Amino acid sequence: MTLVTDSPVWRPYTQHALQPGAVKIARAEGCWLEAEDGSRFLDAISSWWVITHGHRRPEIMQAIREQTESLDQVIFAGFTHEPAERLARRLVEITPKGLDYVFYSDSGSTSVEVAIKMALGFWRNRGKARTRIIALEHGYHGDTVGTMSAGARSAFNASYEPLLFDVARVPFPHQGREQQSLDALEAACKAGAAAFLVEPLILGAGGMLIYSAQTLGRMREICAQYGVLFIADEVMTGFGRTGNLFACEQAGVVPDIACYSKGITGGALPLAATMCKAEIFDAHYSQDRACAFFHSSSYTANPIACAAALANLDIWEKGDARESVTRLCGLQEERIARFRTDGRFDNVRRLGTITALDLRAQQDGYLASIGLDLLGFFNERGLLLRPLGRTIYVLPPYCITGEELDLAYATIDEAAARFSN
Ligand SMILES: Cc1ncc(COP(=O)(O)O)c(C=O)c1O
Repeated sequence: MTLVTDSPVWRPYTQHALQPGAVKIARAEGCWLEAEDGSRFLDAISSWWVITHGHRRPEIMQAIREQTESLDQVIFAGFTHEPAERLARRLVEITPKGLDYVFYSDSGSTSVEVAIKMALGFWRNRGKARTRIIALEHGYHGDTVGTMSAGARSAFNASYEPLLFDVARVPFPHQGREQQSLDALEAACKAGAAAFLVEPLILGAGGMLIYSAQTLGRMREICAQYGVLFIADEVMTGFGRTGNLFACEQAGVVPDIACYSKGITGGALPLAATMCKAEIFDAHYSQDRACAFFHSSSYTANPIACAAALANLDIWEKGDARESVTRLCGLQEERIARFRTDGRFDNVRRLGTITALDLRAQQDGYLASIGLDLLGFFNERGLLLRPLGRTIYVLPPYCITGEELDLAYATIDEAAARFSN
């Protein structure tokens, strides 16, 4: 495995003093990444959760090629274009009923930042002083200042703490302790809040923590009862990961605002959509220019990214995506089952296409060296997994085969033999 070491590139979430090199990838296809030196990596985390159907899915690549024949970036204030218009209509059709407006941006973080701003704008334009955000313990919503504020305080954001705004924090609804969490949410709602921001059913970067659809449903009801806006961050869960197209469907929940990114283009290009109910849009609709929604990214509604997203929606509506997801849920369950009674692991779990297991190790936490040791161990064996501390998770593209998953789990088994205690 050849590493690029002499480079001006500053990589994300990388301690360069400990991880001085990076593998230079030349080609990607299906579940595989191929490096310049010919070594191959099974992409068992979908390249940070974005690739849904598989790398370079032909229909999406074709749509991108075709779109480049007529449009590149076009300013999106005062101008629009067919890919953005068509995509917005189709998103309104496939997302939970009632999410009638679409605001485009270009990453998961911006989609959540937009959601928070929409919520605050809603209350301000209605003449109510509601600014407090409620968020779930261990949540992760991105790396901008607003999303870091709503996310868990951790090593990820310790340096920026003085800039972060305070939020009301609700304990994670661990199994058997759901009521505690619901009571805390109710108390925070009663105290007055603008919105509750939550990752539905599973907290990703917080450790792949799963909670029940019933609890999600109750959270939604509590917010409705106190008129607190309910924001679903479906950046990771959206587009099939939890077994349904959207995680909120499992609880019959219609959020007031929902954030989608990552899988929206099948992972091919950056794009995000923050969708909201008409009342949120209407609160900004006024003869007073000061009530407008003041947010934009230069690349808002990039036509090529919108074309990729439209091709992705075709795969969901007319193609094989739903069958692939159902098949993968089964394959994952078959493979994770034996680890449930394996004493080297705690909390072996699956939600839809995602599995996670906590290696019994002396060290805990994201910064524990076990995370880097495991990462290196997997990389050397041609497996792309990025454990969160001692939490190993498998979140693969939907095209992965049983044999490819067997490779991944055999390597996890080997890692446990080496690193568990
Ligand atoms: C739930 C959730 N929200 C927001 C984000 C931020 O997305 P991005 O990295 O595209 O800014 C992530 C990224 O992993 C996420 O998992």
